[in-house]
Amino acid sequence: MMLKNLYLSDETVGVARPRCYYVPFARGEDPFAPRRRSSRYIDLNGEWSIKAHDTFADVDESFTREEMSGVIPVPSCVQTHGYDRNQYTNVAYPFPYDPPYVPNINPCFHYRRTCALSPAAGERIYLVFEGVDSCFYLYINDRFVGFSFVSHRLSEFDVTDFVRRGENKIDVLVLKWCKGSYLEDQDKLRFTGIFRDVYMLVRPEGHITDYTITADASGKVTFALTGGENAAVTLLGETRTVAAGESAEFIIPEPRLWSAEDPYLYDMVISSRGEVIGEKVGLRTVTVSGGVFTINGAAVKLRGVNRHDFNPVTGATVTTDDIIADLRLMKQLNVNAIRTSHYPNMPEFYGLCDRYGFYVMSETDCESHGVVTRNGEDGPNNYDEIAESPLFARAIEERQAYNVLLHKNRPSVVIWSMGNEAGYGVNFERALEWIKAHDSRPVHYERLISRRDTDPDYFYNQPLDMVSVMYPEIDFVRDYVSDPREYRPLVLCEYCHAMGNGPGDFKAYWDIINSSNRYMGGFVWEWADHALLHGGKPRYGGDFGETLHDGNFCVDGIVTAERRLTHKAMEMKKAYEPLAFEENDGVITVTSRNFFRPIEGTLTLTYKDMGKTVGEERIPLSLAPGASVAIRAKEAHVTIASVTLDRAEGLLPAGHEIARFGVTRDLFRHSPLAARNVGMEEKGRFIEVTTPAARYTLDRLNGSVTSIVGKYGEILHSPLALDIWRAPTDNDANIAKRWRECRYFETSGEVRSVKAEKNAVVFTGKLSAVRLTPIMDFTLRYEFFDNAVAIELDYELNDFKPYLPRVGLSAKLDKAFDDVKYLGYGPYESYIDRRIACIKDVYEGRVGDMADRYLRPQTCGDRYGCDFMELSDGKTVLRAEGRFNFRAGEYDAATLSATAHEWELPARDGTYLSLDFFTSGVGSNSCGPALAEKMRVPNKGSGRIAVIIGER
Ligand code: GAL
Ligand code: MG
Repeated sequence: MMLKNLYLSDETVGVARPRCYYVPFARGEDPFAPRRRSSRYIDLNGEWSIKAHDTFADVDESFTREEMSGVIPVPSCVQTHGYDRNQYTNVAYPFPYDPPYVPNINPCFHYRRTCALSPAAGERIYLVFEGVDSCFYLYINDRFVGFSFVSHRLSEFDVTDFVRRGENKIDVLVLKWCKGSYLEDQDKLRFTGIFRDVYMLVRPEGHITDYTITADASGKVTFALTGGENAAVTLLGETRTVAAGESAEFIIPEPRLWSAEDPYLYDMVISSRGEVIGEKVGLRTVTVSGGVFTINGAAVKLRGVNRHDFNPVTGATVTTDDIIADLRLMKQLNVNAIRTSHYPNMPEFYGLCDRYGFYVMSETDCESHGVVTRNGEDGPNNYDEIAESPLFARAIEERQAYNVLLHKNRPSVVIWSMGNEAGYGVNFERALEWIKAHDSRPVHYERLISRRDTDPDYFYNQPLDMVSVMYPEIDFVRDYVSDPREYRPLVLCEYCHAMGNGPGDFKAYWDIINSSNRYMGGFVWEWADHALLHGGKPRYGGDFGETLHDGNFCVDGIVTAERRLTHKAMEMKKAYEPLAFEENDGVITVTSRNFFRPIEGTLTLTYKDMGKTVGEERIPLSLAPGASVAIRAKEAHVTIASVTLDRAEGLLPAGHEIARFGVTRDLFRHSPLAARNVGMEEKGRFIEVTTPAARYTLDRLNGSVTSIVGKYGEILHSPLALDIWRAPTDNDANIAKRWRECRYFETSGEVRSVKAEKNAVVFTGKLSAVRLTPIMDFTLRYEFFDNAVAIELDYELNDFKPYLPRVGLSAKLDKAFDDVKYLGYGPYESYIDRRIACIKDVYEGRVGDMADRYLRPQTCGDRYGCDFMELSDGKTVLRAEGRFNFRAGEYDAATLSATAHEWELPARDGTYLSLDFFTSGVGSNSCGPALAEKMRVPNKGSGRIAVIIGER
């Protein structure tokens, strides 16, 4: 007999009513111990046998007796164990769009294991699956027990009547697709399998099923027994008995409140019928009132990230260690809020956020983004198709329950999110009603914004507690507070798209977010890259042989998939610092941005002179929330104020730096230049200039320097020439289409006039590309000195040309030029719009250390706002002075652009130097707004850089 096609319906079979998440212990055991220590918990993780079937149609009811073909660890994703294949798609549905149908060829994975049981009379046995993608049929001892779907939910089956004393056989048939897949179209690698923990719970007859704990800042804690016969509840030594449907109230005098800054928890013990359950209770009040989101009455800021449960080796399967490692890194980076994009995270995640202190926006597993391309990119497509369809009404509402009911007792959850990118419509109105009827927390859903212009009355009247936008224009955020009809706070559920080299707008957003309590803050998209280590190498969409994929759009984390801290992560850390610094006439004012907890530690002032530390002062710091302290700093070229912890705090070790600020005084003195001994000679096409330090050759046709011969021979491996190109970043992708059309990658200087003066040569001409009118007019003036050449540029972009990636000079040098030193914004990569984490100072290092490593190669390693930079091979020193940005890299733009993965870059063959008069910022246009005008290379400009040839 064929199995019933339950997977096309909205019916589960045999699944218990959703309840709050907990694991019961036996009386006498520590109910706060890790759950595996409970004698009532039977761990079913581990090796299961497996057999893959091409499609559901190949499986009939006798499948539970079939021979198995392999083994697989549970939990895991089948794709990371050689089954099926990996596929990454963002918006697009990876199957034909025809709801509720899914492909007839629907791969199935049959899992089996046995388990010895000795059930006692009066006990009930439950089998719990914490996550199976996408749906599954459960059989025990060859009898059908039930069916469940919704990948990121907890499915609990009462299997008492199916199990027996001794060996029991469990067969699970997991299908790759089901009707629910239409609501799970999140931007992710598409995994299948029993990807979260599986266990049994052995419980007494008449046990508790569900309860609701509410606790607020007044110190009142209410325990309501919403499922079960009765319970004894103990809090702070006080015990209350609660009958079914009733509640007990506790008042905690002088309560210590819970917040992300001070995640204080009280122990509650719930006992009933020989079972004990440990609950960690956090006292906190979350409200939205007067257009302001508050926690414990304070208008906190959510310094957030969007986090997927993702591990680069095991995919959607993560361990609590993985989660703790993430939380630790987040604390290091001053993150205080997490959106569980785009589904409830594994249950233990929430308890860890309670414990370590994070504000959580818990999101329902509900996204149907693919509707926007179901008729192709150009439509017609209706984003609200599924949000309005009766076919999905029940599912969209029910999915809220799997989020809310499971996590309702967690203090860290401060906002419910109804899902992501699933349109807006009646199904969400119902879903919202459902949540409002069951819980008091504020509710979030971003898609309402789509009604703002099309149906303002509807928009302003929907009872969502906040307005949410993703990747807004800065102006939108700024103007939000002046909208007279708007009464809700604003949250950026996604912003600062952290793909590749970027994001360049932390400061722009946070200057505004910090300006008003109406702004709740935002969640960076996203926490970590989703690159999968396959054959030991990180890979992305298209690397697995998929024909439909979205390339490296899954590589958009602020940290890498392996959780390596990046330069851009430091930018976020700075934006999220809990301290604000200001400097005025040598007085540094430090203000706490905390709301609840004093900041205690040491403020170290380091005084530096051209890179050398010349003094240090340590000042004990103890700042009440909101308080400031002013410190007079000594006079120095660079003063760095660093705040470190004296004692370990939660996940942070003693000594951890929470904030850093630098003041740089403009004390740089340019090297004196003299032109006593400069000789110039015309040699046909070329002009040769001889100085005591070097002999230069200039090309009259294009204005470049074709040769610089110093004491140790030729310095240039390619002409030092006008250049506007950079290997486009992911954030350049849109504008790069126009750049390429205009052939910015292959230009020639077309010199129209050459004028030789005393010790100077002036070229006037047009920077041009084949087929097209000239890109820009330029005047390039070389002024020679005994030890240097000063290069001056005046340029003006022509009409109809997109803004320039950069404008400057580039040359290839020998790879022996590997020592770099500069006075500019460092030590991280810096751009006009990405440098708040950087301090202008003198830094030294190797060319290979200048750039962060991006999985998809792109321009990187620039330094902004430099006074000087030096490159040396140990003998010759090439020094630039002026006001410029530079890049000393291992690869040229063409190589970077032509390579798909960092690990495929060829062996390095030189040092590639760019000296820029202007460099466009990086922005976040891979998903965010276009690069702000003031962050672009100006259409007209000038500058001067002196290149000094010296010796080490
Ligand atoms: C958003 C979406 C995210 C992700 C991001 C692009 O629109 O909500 O899931 O796709 O864009 O990286
Ligand atoms: Mg999406």
